[in-house]
Amino acid sequence: MFSLSGVGYRYGPAMPLALKNLSLTVPQGSFHLLTGPSGAGKTTLFNLLTLAMLPTEGSLTFLGTDVATASRAERAALRRQIGVVWQDFRLLPHLTVRENISLPLQLQGTLGQAEHDAIAQLLGWVGLEALADRPAGGLSGGEQQRTAIARAVVHHPKLLIADEPTGNVDAAMARKILHLFTELHKQGTTIVLATHDSALIGSKQAPVLTLAHGELVA
Ligand SMILES: Nc1ncnc2c1ncn2[C@@H]1O[C@H](COP(=O)(O)OP(=O)(O)OP(=O)(O)O)[C@@H](O)[C@H]1O
Ligand SMILES: [Mg+2]
Repeated sequence: MFSLSGVGYRYGPAMPLALKNLSLTVPQGSFHLLTGPSGAGKTTLFNLLTLAMLPTEGSLTFLGTDVATASRAERAALRRQIGVVWQDFRLLPHLTVRENISLPLQLQGTLGQAEHDAIAQLLGWVGLEALADRPAGGLSGGEQQRTAIARAVVHHPKLLIADEPTGNVDAAMARKILHLFTELHKQGTTIVLATHDSALIGSKQAPVLTLAHGELVA
């Protein structure tokens, strides 16, 4: 799915490296957990894996394309194959829950009856039917997180990146979300899930990538 070789990232010319010399390959169809203390670089790595930022050192290949040399249009096309649950959600606050969830489908240009049915099913699944027509900006943290999860998976992405996706929900919802991700993985989605939740790490049989001070330590 993607391959990193000597990847580093610096937020500014005078800033220290937030990620240092990362080399790893994530095969298509795999499920990895990503962990490490606060400030270790998990979200920075996800910004690179989702092509939101480009590495400042080394090279990153996604689906066979070197992201640094890809054109803007190529990068946009690659990004449409990725679903992301950001740690800070990144919803559009003035759009409703349903509109936020439908955005990836609109970007693909398809929003027919089948898509509306899929959105309705996901709304039910994450328990947000009653809030579907409310602006996302007025929701609680857990409600926004569930909206972000539905938006990340609605277009059946090839790659799902989830940054602490259970950080704002109760234990029962966390189990449900992990179950959803496990089902998507069975259907072929490649998944990388960052978490501090040791119960989740213990319950999920998946290889664990550990970051510390911007370096991969396991
Ligand atoms: N926008 C930014 N500008 C400058 N430095 C940043 C920026 N974002 C993150 N950093 C720095 O990069 C390092 C890695 O941060 P990052 O957010 O990737 O950590 P994290 O592992 O996701 O932490 P957490 O578990 O708290 O979410 C930290 O030292 C942080 O201060
Ligand atoms: Mg983070």
